[in-house]
Amino acid sequence: MSKAVDMSVTLAGVTLRSPVIAASGTFGYGVEFEDIIAMEKIGGFVTKGLSREPMAGNQAPRIIETAAGMINAIGLQNMGVRAFVNEKMPHLQRMAGAVVIANVFGFTMEDCVEVIRVLNDAPGIAMYELNASCPNTSHGGMVFGTDPELLGDLVEATKKVATRPLMVKLSPNVTSIAAMARVAEAAGADAVSLVNTFLSLAIDVETRRPRIANVTGGLSGPAIKPIAVRMVHEVWRAVKIPVVGMGGIVRAEDAVEFLLAGATAVEVGTASYADPRAVEVISTGLRRWCGAHGVEAVRELTGAMAR
Ligand SMILES: Cc1cc2nc3c(=O)[nH]c(=O)nc-3n(C[C@H](O)[C@H](O)[C@H](O)COP(=O)(O)O)c2cc1C
Repeated sequence: MSKAVDMSVTLAGVTLRSPVIAASGTFGYGVEFEDIIAMEKIGGFVTKGLSREPMAGNQAPRIIETAAGMINAIGLQNMGVRAFVNEKMPHLQRMAGAVVIANVFGFTMEDCVEVIRVLNDAPGIAMYELNASCPNTSHGGMVFGTDPELLGDLVEATKKVATRPLMVKLSPNVTSIAAMARVAEAAGADAVSLVNTFLSLAIDVETRRPRIANVTGGLSGPAIKPIAVRMVHEVWRAVKIPVVGMGGIVRAEDAVEFLLAGATAVEVGTASYADPRAVEVISTGLRRWCGAHGVEAVRELTGAMAR
């Protein structure tokens, strides 16, 4: 029998059993997947974006299917950080093997700082992912992620209060994502994750109306994968902190591609809509792929693209 593959990776001081993580907004608060996924077989999961106060999100339709992807404009509907800590965290702590990464969102810098303060007091969270990149809210979100000065200020302010590693999720809706990653790194980010969704528009030609009530939404899924892989590679070359890659991963080979481009770990989002077990299937598939290709430790793949 071939040797067992070492699937562990270390991300900003946190050791994960697998580099495959469920992406924010596509895995609820984690508890919904308790009977669907074996948590010990995946690296962890990122919660839906948590804000200071509960948010109702945008009007429907908020999700549509496109060629090889989907457009969403959920508008960060969530129960609010306090309800998450009180109602979901106790359950998550009892869930064997669950590694929780809390996704943080705010309309202002003070909002983000406050969300992190509340999370700091909750035991059982491994890391924070700061969403500086949501395209679906009228202010906050993408505004932070597309203005280098604001991004630097936001990362500095949140890093100052965070008692756990801070990963900053970058927007692909910029001219140079590598430059934004450098800003995040200089401001103290422990890791960066990318990409969030691409700002997009789909029109119903019969009614001539936008297919999403919010007019624009964020494109995700296989349609964005080659752009996301290119961006991960650019960012990996530009910074020293670890890079977490995502965008259109639906099978193990897609994850391998992101790792070769420079990612230390990957997140899987839209694929969970087609198959709720996708994250586990991809994690197990990645282990098998490594075994079949003589890769003894998955971390050997990071940045190993041949040129
Ligand atoms: C329905 C939906 C909701 C999302 N909500 C969030 C969110 O709350 N916070 C966040 O940082 N990213 C959010 N995202 C972005 C994903 O985490 C991920 O960055 C993006 O979809 C690209 O990966 P994918 O192609 O594997 O889906 C959301 C994506 C989708 C499809």
